[in-house]
Amino acid sequence: MDSRCAVILAAGDGKRMKSSGPKVLCKVLFEPMINWVLSACQQSGINRVCAVVGCGAEEVKSVLPQDCTWVMQQERRGTGHAAGCAANFIGNSTDVLILNGDSPFISSQVIEEAYKLHKENDCGATVITAKVPNPTGYGRIIREGGLLTSIVEEREASEEIKKISEINSGAYWFRSSDLLDALGKITCENTAGEYYLTDALSIIITKGSRCQAYCSPDYRVVEGANDRMGLAMLNTLARDMKIQELYECGVDIPLDDGIIIGRNVRVGSDTTILPGTILKGNTVIGSGCVIGPGSYIEDSTIGCGCKIKSTYITSSVLEDDVQIGPFAQVRPGSKIGSGCRIGNFNEIKNSQIGQDTKMSHLSYCGDADVGSRVNFGCGTVIVNYNGVKKNRTLIGDDAFIGCNSNLVAPIKIGNGAYTAAGSTVTQDVPDNSLAIGRSRDVIKEGYVPKLREKFKE
Ligand code: UD1
Ligand code: CA
Repeated sequence: MDSRCAVILAAGDGKRMKSSGPKVLCKVLFEPMINWVLSACQQSGINRVCAVVGCGAEEVKSVLPQDCTWVMQQERRGTGHAAGCAANFIGNSTDVLILNGDSPFISSQVIEEAYKLHKENDCGATVITAKVPNPTGYGRIIREGGLLTSIVEEREASEEIKKISEINSGAYWFRSSDLLDALGKITCENTAGEYYLTDALSIIITKGSRCQAYCSPDYRVVEGANDRMGLAMLNTLARDMKIQELYECGVDIPLDDGIIIGRNVRVGSDTTILPGTILKGNTVIGSGCVIGPGSYIEDSTIGCGCKIKSTYITSSVLEDDVQIGPFAQVRPGSKIGSGCRIGNFNEIKNSQIGQDTKMSHLSYCGDADVGSRVNFGCGTVIVNYNGVKKNRTLIGDDAFIGCNSNLVAPIKIGNGAYTAAGSTVTQDVPDNSLAIGRSRDVIKEGYVPKLREKFKE
């Protein structure tokens, strides 16, 4: 049995956020804060994790991974009370990591280093701290002769104490037995009338166990958010950290204006990302691409050497050397083969497209399997929906779809087949055949003067 476990305090409401939902679901780089904290636990190899839920419990539970348990805190009576709600869970462990659900940047590295110190010195508690530029709002770390003696909350702090810049991150390692004993002794005799988990430290010290602070060299890992301004600050920090990481991987971001990149996105070297680009979710981008300006890519895989201008791509795959945009949309379930050219105002949905196919302008391609080297004339529409059901379209290699063709699905256009411009095609077209589905044009020579006379009447 792993003797370590973690408890994430996540029952608080979004009162200071002025949000109707729970605070821990407020997003940093598009992801709920609690997801960041859960990842740090996972990366530290802590398998037993319990979230204390309360406000918006159902919503919070819905983002927890399957192997994460939860306990309910019926009333919000403070962090000490919240930790107490997980007492049964903690009971089976030797050491417990307590984490705040609203401090997303806690890292597995800091968790591990603090744990090492905690065990080496046989501590009752090890609190993770940092010296921050603006300590307002945080609990202050009180030391005597360099040794931790207590944590004083902002509300209880004297002017002198408020000047201390070393703050409590809200993350701690406790020897489980010491914590459980201390939780029974915390009172709510303070300005807020709440059970402060921070009081556990002085209780454990008084009992005679050793307690210490692990001061993180990078203060950013302890930053938390209580209000919208704090959340914006976390987003800025996270954004800058991600961009820094990509610079270190050889990604070219000449100007980072409006660029937002999710923490799990990977980008190859020599790829240029231009302003206004958003990359989200599990997106992977190869090397030597130019992405943007103004592109949005979510949960997609992009090959090497692609150029993606002002285009919206979700849950799709683009192979190497695809050029797309400006102003195109690739919707979920699409795969675009290498060397394809997709120009302006095209929409591709749930379609597979072979290599070197061209769709230069103004087409809709939904639920289609398209071969290689196909040419889509301007304004091609794949008529995939008959009002009841979506049907698939098959287009063979080297087919040429004339401008303004409607291909009414289900339909199969053979290899090397043509459709005449302006055709509505409802029947399968064999290989190398021409489909014409339009009325013949009629020329009335010299008719215009008569027409003008007629219009005068
Ligand atoms: C807490 C610490 C403070 C520290 C700061 C770091 C206490 C008393 N203070 O203050 O020393 O510097 O975090 O960010 O612990 N929660 C519950 N149930 C409750 C109350 C809170 O689950 O009854 C959860 C919240 O959802 C949140 C976390 O505990 O995720 C921290 O609570 P919050 O009220 O934000 O504490 P802070 O005032 O930030
Ligand atoms: Ca907080």
